[in-house]
Amino acid sequence: MESLNCEHASSEQVVKAIHSCGGLLIGSPTLGGHAPTPIVSALGTVLAEGDRSRPVGVFGSFGWSGEAIDLLASKLRDGCFRLAFDPIRIQFSPDPGRLEQLEEQGASLSVARDQPLAGELEVGEAFALNLLALGRETQHLRSFQRPLPLSPGLLDGLDLQESPAGQPLLSDALAWLEARVSKKVACGDHWLLVAEVLAGGVLDADGITAVPQRRSGQPA
Ligand SMILES: Cc1cc2nc3c(=O)[nH]c(=O)nc-3n(C[C@H](O)[C@H](O)[C@H](O)COP(=O)(O)O)c2cc1C
Repeated sequence: MESLNCEHASSEQVVKAIHSCGGLLIGSPTLGGHAPTPIVSALGTVLAEGDRSRPVGVFGSFGWSGEAIDLLASKLRDGCFRLAFDPIRIQFSPDPGRLEQLEEQGASLSVARDQPLAGELEVGEAFALNLLALGRETQHLRSFQRPLPLSPGLLDGLDLQESPAGQPLLSDALAWLEARVSKKVACGDHWLLVAEVLAGGVLDADGITAVPQRRSGQPA
């Protein structure tokens, strides 16, 4: 992770960071109902030079109104950037509780109850989440989308790597997360799993995440 202080960074540094990053967070205090000039200038560079396929996020400190945070978020949304999370608004300074909350990384996912895998993912169990790459997802979706008996040969023939805790990672995935289930909530025919992320990595910095779309009531 690279962080830049927009007040001191040269425009070349800002442009270089925007071109080389996989995701970008921009933050600002609110002064006199506005964002300081160096932030407005950096925002302009993001809008002009940024890659709209990469996720962005907004954060900021404020005293009473926080217009700068709204400005950053609205300009990025209007510029067709995808905000990865709701803007983080901190009144004056974050307290230790809020800092801890911001540092905790989590993931939530839903697993159909008829997937045998759902029975394995109990609270306290670790698992790896492979994020498939657009263009390389079809075969994996075909193999893993249906209810699968968890047989020893399930992963045979796949090109695999291992996560730090020994979970299987698909070598042609875009990225991976290793997580531990912290909550399991029944939601109709699915389980909603809330998990704490323990580790993660990017395997293909140039790829784009595959997002399957439902064409009907059945998964595509
Ligand atoms: C001169 C001045 C003007 C400010 N104007 C605003 C404002 O219009 N709206 C607001 O929500 N906060 C305002 N604030 C509060 C700041 O946003 C807040 O103190 C700041 O985000 C905290 O960050 P810091 O650690 O950089 O001081 C102002 C603060 C100062 C000193």
